[in-house]
Amino acid sequence: MAPLLRGHLWLYKAKPDDSELEFDRPYSSRWNLRNIKSCLVILILFLAALLIVVQTLYFWNRHVYDRKFDSQLHKYIVSSPAAKALPRKGQLFCWVQTSPIYHDSRVMAINETWLHRCDHGQLFTSAALQDDKIPYSTVFAGIPDSYYNLFYKSRFAFHYIYRNISSEFDWYYKVSATKQVIPRLQCIPLQADDDTYVIVEHLRAYLSKLNPDEPHYLGYVLKPYLKNGYNAGGSGYVLSNAALKLFDSLLYNNETLCPDNIYEDVGIGTCLASIGIFPEDTRNAKGQNRFNTHSPSEIFHQSTNVSWKFYPEKPGFDAFAPEMISFHHLSPDEIRLFDLLLYRINKNGLQL
Ligand SMILES: *[C@@H]1O[C@H](CO)[C@@H](O)[C@H](O)[C@H]1NC(C)=O
Ligand SMILES: *[C@@H]1O[C@H](CO)[C@@H](O)[C@H](O)[C@H]1NC(C)=O
Ligand SMILES: *[C@@H]1O[C@H](CO)[C@@H](O)[C@H](O)[C@H]1NC(C)=O
Ligand SMILES: *[C@@H]1O[C@H](CO)[C@@H](O)[C@H](O)[C@H]1NC(C)=O
Repeated sequence: MAPLLRGHLWLYKAKPDDSELEFDRPYSSRWNLRNIKSCLVILILFLAALLIVVQTLYFWNRHVYDRKFDSQLHKYIVSSPAAKALPRKGQLFCWVQTSPIYHDSRVMAINETWLHRCDHGQLFTSAALQDDKIPYSTVFAGIPDSYYNLFYKSRFAFHYIYRNISSEFDWYYKVSATKQVIPRLQCIPLQADDDTYVIVEHLRAYLSKLNPDEPHYLGYVLKPYLKNGYNAGGSGYVLSNAALKLFDSLLYNNETLCPDNIYEDVGIGTCLASIGIFPEDTRNAKGQNRFNTHSPSEIFHQSTNVSWKFYPEKPGFDAFAPEMISFHHLSPDEIRLFDLLLYRINKNGLQL
């Protein structure tokens, strides 16, 4: 006999009389009222336990981070050598909010294409990347990767940039390379391709006409939730030096003015609105968008929900501003295609 089984057999042998008695009774008597009652009690207890586990997981997933832990986040932050080598002042600071599930896809495409065209362009994530040549910092290492924590991440990141990286850039541009929708709660279909492409030269040219010492909050304006709208996370949004300074001093630490929000972009828009900083009209003279939170194909066909748009849009080529700055809902390879056509094609040989 296998030694493992011995213990069990010993258990059975310990009460032979019980089992014999049990089998002597007629079958029906084993299912008396008392048994049914205790079965019901066990079932109810089991369901209650299951409910508690599900609720706890849901709660955990949603509220596991609390802003009071912010000061402890610093000890987990590591910056790559490439990030440390970047300049500490200039016109444009760009940061991309991402997480480890995108390290091999979106992060690569963004690093290979537009990020390095900012004076200081970094990825903020929660775990180290393999390649030290990629400029990144693990600003989010102490915040669990969950959709619900995107606002906390962004709020903390702006504070960290201003205090620990540099307060000497004219403009701070935030781009998101994370999932923006909650499919479970909103029944919005999963957005497979959620990347942003940025024509950095156009962004610089646009910003050079504005004064960074005034509070500016620039991007693609969405309509719902707030009276004056908010700038979509998808197209990326820009804070001027003055706006970031106010954010850090008045909003970052004030839960009344800057309350938690499950939507990162709505949350930041709410904080800024509380001190009178609203999204501006960033369209060109013809009413065409510079910043876009949709893909070129969605814009061309005007296939997205009109009721979310703050300003009307035209279909077809008329929708596109020649000064275009950003597009969203692109796959990593579409990002590379954009870059190929804009920067890597031999334009001199073409007779246009
Ligand atoms: C950021 O600056 C604060 C205050 O100067 C400091 O306590 C903290 O350690 C710094 N964080 C990092 C990651 O250097
Ligand atoms: C990331 O970008 C940096 C700067 O442009 C470059 O040196 C590095 O090779 C890139 N890494 C990858 C994996 O593309
Ligand atoms: C938050 O801002 C409000 C309005 O300016 C102010 O009354 C309150 O004291 C601030 N709270 C904190 C914690 O700074
Ligand atoms: C557009 O969005 C509004 C507001 O969220 C919603 O009520 C409406 O059903 C949406 N329409 C379509 C066609 O999805």
